[in-house]
Amino acid sequence: MSGPLLGLLGVEALPLAQLVAILDRADALYASGNKKTASMNGETVVNLFMEPSTRTRTSFEIAAKRLSADVVNVSESFSSAKKGETLLDTARNLDAMRPAVIVLRHGSSGAANMIAPHVRARVVNAGDGQHEHPTQALLDSGTIRRHKGRVEGLTITIVGDILHSRVARSNIFALVKQGANVRVAAPRSLLPRGVEALGVTAFDRVEPALAGAEVVMVLRLQQERMNGGYIPSLRDYSRFFGVNAHNLRAAHPDAIVMHPGPMNRGVELASEVADGPRSVILDQVAYGVSVRMAVLERLASATA
Ligand code: NCD
Repeated sequence: MSGPLLGLLGVEALPLAQLVAILDRADALYASGNKKTASMNGETVVNLFMEPSTRTRTSFEIAAKRLSADVVNVSESFSSAKKGETLLDTARNLDAMRPAVIVLRHGSSGAANMIAPHVRARVVNAGDGQHEHPTQALLDSGTIRRHKGRVEGLTITIVGDILHSRVARSNIFALVKQGANVRVAAPRSLLPRGVEALGVTAFDRVEPALAGAEVVMVLRLQQERMNGGYIPSLRDYSRFFGVNAHNLRAAHPDAIVMHPGPMNRGVELASEVADGPRSVILDQVAYGVSVRMAVLERLASATA
């Protein structure tokens, strides 16, 4: 057993032993059907979501309720951010109400790291700008383990907007730590300069990146984080980088296909694949509740 988890701000600084301990616990919770426990009875979880979310917010809420926590959801359109309050002031005011955990989603990279030292509550980063989305990477690793039995030694290709994607970054950290061979594929304009330094192989064409891949992770174009000029058009992107039944033939015959959602059908991923037998997209969502239970449980026991 590794030490207590004091917050989850990213995967980059998460020791491998902690990552594996979270996934092992999530596996047990998943096997139990995410059975309700009393681990967070009498404690409060605040979901502070300053950017849109369907899956992540709901998943954290269900996870917290399965642990018997009280859950409060604060979203941007109903918060005093609209009246000019800073994020730090919002966080400190919510913290004064003594929640055990604050789950933060924010459009600025580094937002979770910024508030964490100033609040008593443990902070979970539920996505900060282009920086990290640790619980998404954890649930992706857990889903890969469930389907492939391991992460180590697998060839895993991430296709899409690597430059703007916090999901890509957190996954690269998680998968490289666990010993996978990670490839990233995108148009040159959407590949971060020097991405190879993170331990991945970069491709500016999708077919060679898919060759022999055992896991194919497809990402959305983060158009809300682009200010024009990254791709000629969605149709061109789809034609050259969209994953479909045809180019997937290059992958390993047992390859699984993943997507964190929200999916733009027919752009980055063809419906025939998204709804086909290789797709584990809804398994990712199902397992996400178990991962978030495992994370919240560890944070709660660290608070006690
Ligand atoms: C992702 C996010 O918000 O970073 N969605 C999610 O949490 N499942 C990916 C995305 O928005 O493309």
